[in-house]
Amino acid sequence: MSFLASFITSFATRFRMLLDGLVAPFQVAPAILTASGDGLKAKAATALKDPRVQRISLRLMRAFLPNLVLSKPLITAYPNTGTAIVTRYQDVVEVLDRNADFEVVYEPKMRAITGGENFFLGMQDTALYERDVANLRLAMRRDDVAAIVEPAARRLAEQLVAKQTNRIDVPKDLSQLVPTAIVTDYFGIAGAKNDDLIDWATMMFWYLFIDLAGDSTIASKALDAAASCRSAIDAAIASRKAEGVARDDVLGRCLVLQKANQPGMDDLGIRNYLIGLVIGAIPTISKASVQALDQLLDRPQALESAQAAARAGDDALLAAHVFEAFRFNPVNPVIYRRAACDATIASGSLRARKIPKGTMVLASNLSAMFDPLRMEAPESFRVDRPWGEYMLWGYGMHTCFGAHINRAVVPAILKPLLAKPGLRRAAGSAGRIDAGGTPFPQHFSVEWN
Ligand code: HEM
Repeated sequence: MSFLASFITSFATRFRMLLDGLVAPFQVAPAILTASGDGLKAKAATALKDPRVQRISLRLMRAFLPNLVLSKPLITAYPNTGTAIVTRYQDVVEVLDRNADFEVVYEPKMRAITGGENFFLGMQDTALYERDVANLRLAMRRDDVAAIVEPAARRLAEQLVAKQTNRIDVPKDLSQLVPTAIVTDYFGIAGAKNDDLIDWATMMFWYLFIDLAGDSTIASKALDAAASCRSAIDAAIASRKAEGVARDDVLGRCLVLQKANQPGMDDLGIRNYLIGLVIGAIPTISKASVQALDQLLDRPQALESAQAAARAGDDALLAAHVFEAFRFNPVNPVIYRRAACDATIASGSLRARKIPKGTMVLASNLSAMFDPLRMEAPESFRVDRPWGEYMLWGYGMHTCFGAHINRAVVPAILKPLLAKPGLRRAAGSAGRIDAGGTPFPQHFSVEWN
């Protein structure tokens, strides 16, 4: 592109961004005014649960307040002195890349969950972090995804859908069961009931990452769940050792490493790794599958072409539809860190902001994926986006450890459903995501012909 053409394109993109930002309040206001709740604050809180309202509000912020710094803490679950909301792609990346300046905060809760030790998502960029990630990568290998995890997930999803006549409650009868099978069959945590694993993982995830207000009831339920989950993992380790048979799954490989005296691979270390994996795997994969499907059902054309890809067995194209849909409502719209020192972001630009030490920084991956300065036609549903532009499960050092599993398993869960003729929402509220008072979909029914 010539200099002139690129100047004009860049000017047009910025101009459009400002216009979109100006229009945004008029689009958000009706949603807030018609939302349920007593008073404007409650109504706004309800409206902001809708991903469409979140996206429009972030449009306004990207245009006029790209890096908002408030002296008021909005998150009370972790000690902090204020809040910063970072919305542009470039700045979200900067926050998540500067590990020394913007630290993960989860350590105290991780220790409460494991009953003592930290888990690597709660660690800063240290030797122990690298050792633990490296240990777990020896046990959970990337080539397992194609050889073991995806085929098993695909088979199970096909069986679960085939069991139903023409209707399914997606979380209960499909999307929670597939990742739970990964936990039992691939991680090797056998012995616990599926429902217990799902409930424990949901409570622990809620406490660690979602309960930003530090609710004591959630904490106490999560710590009970953690104690039960620890006992179940201890029992699985003990029974595997008693069996005396080597099995080639994650637990089995951890035990092989234990025999070789690999540091970190004692029974307690293995339990800590496995509890982190359980928390990461079950509620997230289920929620991602449900939310991607929900977004597809809102877009008849995209749904039709996703269904055509599913029926034609074009897995790459199917996955492109699923993850583009997921972009519109990812599991987590922000990733949070705390400033370890006074730090300036976007230095040298008009939007540079100093973030005081102790400030909680909400780096919005949802906003980043709709930033027109980075994404082409961000509001359009496109299946030709470069994979590197997606920020669906974190960025930088702490990017999701299960990233390759997610990429294979979420489309595998949805494929047999998408192949069904006449796929649609069930009538009434059954066809809308019902989180049942939790942050995770509990019910969501769809039907087919
Ligand atoms: C679609 C499903 C999933 C989503 C949306 C998701 C989301 C995320 C996000 C956003 C982070 C980064 C958190 C941060 O930086 O503060 C993360 C990290 C992590 N996830 Fe996932 N996750 C998913 C599935 C999984 C699965 C299946 C596993 C286990 C196999 C897993 C294990 C982990 C672990 C261990 C980390 C910490 C990585 C590190 O600290 O280096 N996740 N995930």
